Amino acid sequence: MKNRSTWWIRVPVLLFLIWGMMEYFIDSGEKPAIIEYPAAQFFMLMVFLLLIAIELILQSVENVMFHTLSEEAKERYLASKSKSWEWSWGKNTYKKLLGSKPMEAEGEIILDHNYDGIRELDNKLPPWWVYMFYATIIFGVVYLVRFHVFNDYDQDSEYEREVAAAQLEIEAYKKTAKDLVDANTVALLTEAADINAGKAIYETNCVACHMADGGGGIGPNLTDDHWILGGGIKNVFSTVSEGGRDGKGMVAWKQILKPVEMAQVSSYILIEIQGKTPANPKAAEGDVWEESDTP
Ligand code: HEC
Repeated sequence: MKNRSTWWIRVPVLLFLIWGMMEYFIDSGEKPAIIEYPAAQFFMLMVFLLLIAIELILQSVENVMFHTLSEEAKERYLASKSKSWEWSWGKNTYKKLLGSKPMEAEGEIILDHNYDGIRELDNKLPPWWVYMFYATIIFGVVYLVRFHVFNDYDQDSEYEREVAAAQLEIEAYKKTAKDLVDANTVALLTEAADINAGKAIYETNCVACHMADGGGGIGPNLTDDHWILGGGIKNVFSTVSEGGRDGKGMVAWKQILKPVEMAQVSSYILIEIQGKTPANPKAAEGDVWEESDTP
């Protein structure tokens, strides 16, 4: 029974392998399974104890066997154990990649030149270098054929493709981060879900002063194309967020509503209320708003 490596290498390596396999097979979302599931921690602890137990058993088996050996066999066994362990495959590969001759064989490759006692060896190019050189040649040929003969794609189309992909990511991000809007970034929301949410917000907070049909009461008429504080989604959003002129009664709704809710109710006003004919319209106030007036 020859020990090829020692326990303090074997146990951690096996432990890491099993851990890696566990993480690979258990789908635990963003977090690693060992953090997500306490059972996984327990499992790894069990594996650890088991590995230690196996090591202990191996050692004692070795011990028992050793005592059954004859004196001569004991000596042979100890001699074979004390041979220091070497990673011969790795060493050989490394030597092959360097491709240099051992010092004793340098006589075969020494050149005739003798510059004031300085001699020169005719070493072969190291294989690692030569292989890399061949690889660059193959790469170059493939590149040339692909991009200059068949014109696969160029930098412009690569750029456009990446921008388009990024745009999609931004859209997806905005869907999850609607709460980030402010008066500068707000855009008219047209999805039915947003309009319905805006309607509900309007009905609970705004009808008291603006009426359900937007005809106006304490607050101005929201159905006409006249605006005191400016029309368009950006102005309406900032009016709703910051409130009207002092003493008029329109409060700053940012105290009460979330940014996304203010965007929804503003969109509701512009899409559903604007242009309707209310039962009791209040006279128009302010100026006619044209979209091109947006600063
Ligand atoms: C307490 C009464 C009151 C409530 C409640 C109220 N408003 Fe107003 N609103 C006003 C008044 C008064 C004005 C006019 C402000 C001014 O002249 O500066 C106004 C102005 C506005 C304007 C600007 C109109 C324009 O012509 O520029 C918008 C948009 C608006 N309100 C939306 C809302 C929304 C949305 C809600 C509900 C979240 C709401 N208001 C709730 C009283 C109210």
